[in-house]
Amino acid sequence: MNPSEARIVLTGATGGIGREAAAAFIGAGASVLLVARSPAQLSALSRSLQATATGSAPRIAWQAADLGVAAAVDELVGVASEWRCNVVVHAAGVPCFGALETVDAETMRRVIDINLLAPMKLTQALLTHLRSQVRAQVICLGSALGSIGLPGFSIYSASKFGLRGFAEALRRELGGTGIRVQYVGPRSTRTSFNDAAVEAYNAATGTAMDSPGRVAAALLRSLHDETAERFIGFPERLAVRINGAAPTLLDGSFDKHRRSVAAASSADAVPTKRSDRPGASAIESSGVLPR
Ligand SMILES: NC(=O)c1ccc[n+]([C@@H]2O[C@H](COP(=O)([O-])OP(=O)(O)OC[C@H]3O[C@@H](n4cnc5c(N)ncnc54)[C@H](OP(=O)(O)O)[C@@H]3O)[C@@H](O)[C@H]2O)c1
Repeated sequence: MNPSEARIVLTGATGGIGREAAAAFIGAGASVLLVARSPAQLSALSRSLQATATGSAPRIAWQAADLGVAAAVDELVGVASEWRCNVVVHAAGVPCFGALETVDAETMRRVIDINLLAPMKLTQALLTHLRSQVRAQVICLGSALGSIGLPGFSIYSASKFGLRGFAEALRRELGGTGIRVQYVGPRSTRTSFNDAAVEAYNAATGTAMDSPGRVAAALLRSLHDETAERFIGFPERLAVRINGAAPTLLDGSFDKHRRSVAAASSADAVPTKRSDRPGASAIESSGVLPR
């Protein structure tokens, strides 16, 4: 849709990608309801966006919500409906990198909760409202790792493969309605989502990293052109297609990745609980064909 008609609920708004996306949407004339957990960060972000907004001022609002807490999601749904949102951008997410045996059960649960269940539940809860809009869009921010499973990302990939499946099935389910469901899959992006271990992995495997501004520009394009799926970067776009058509063809290509995961795991041999506190250093990557 035309951004000037968009009233966007943006989860993950305080993140590296979310901040850039909020600025891009607002710069294009959209109204944005910023969502994350920290009221202080949301309020500061809202003020700084308001200060730089030009032209006929779009509306900027915020709502603090932990997307893993049902009551907070219910409250968000009420606020978003009253605010008359017609677009949801699911950009909240938590990372998970490491050999499977180094990831504890609580971390697994949280990754699936926030990366997969939260967008599913929020979309479901907003569906009646979205159906009442002339046009609506649901944009899921996935990952190249939602199409290509790489060593070290088994849990994270499970969450993003799930999200991509959700978006694809729902897009077909809602075909013929006014609601368009979309998926954007960035490759590794320079934000605090990625810690030193992932940066070392990326360096060892020749994995390129994009700026968050590039991802924000892709989200804005997807809002505008309503493309069903958009992947960012080459060779990732090609790798997504090859892996989709014949995944086992690539199975022999991950020695460097395995070595890098083993190095990270031996430096961190005890099962660890990855923190996703606001502002905490976090980890994530996206996949490329090994070079
Ligand atoms: N960075 C990458 O390399 C990369 C690559 C591909 C895809 N992605 C995806 O892009 C999205 C954004 O990533 P990013 O790099 O911007 O990460 P980020 O900088 O760590 O930001 C994560 C955002 O999610 C929010 N969040 C986390 N847990 C939450 C919860 N329980 N409830 C509500 N909000 C929560 C955070 O806000 P609070 O912590 O303040 O609540 C923050 O706004 C994620 O879905 C990620 O999987 C990232």
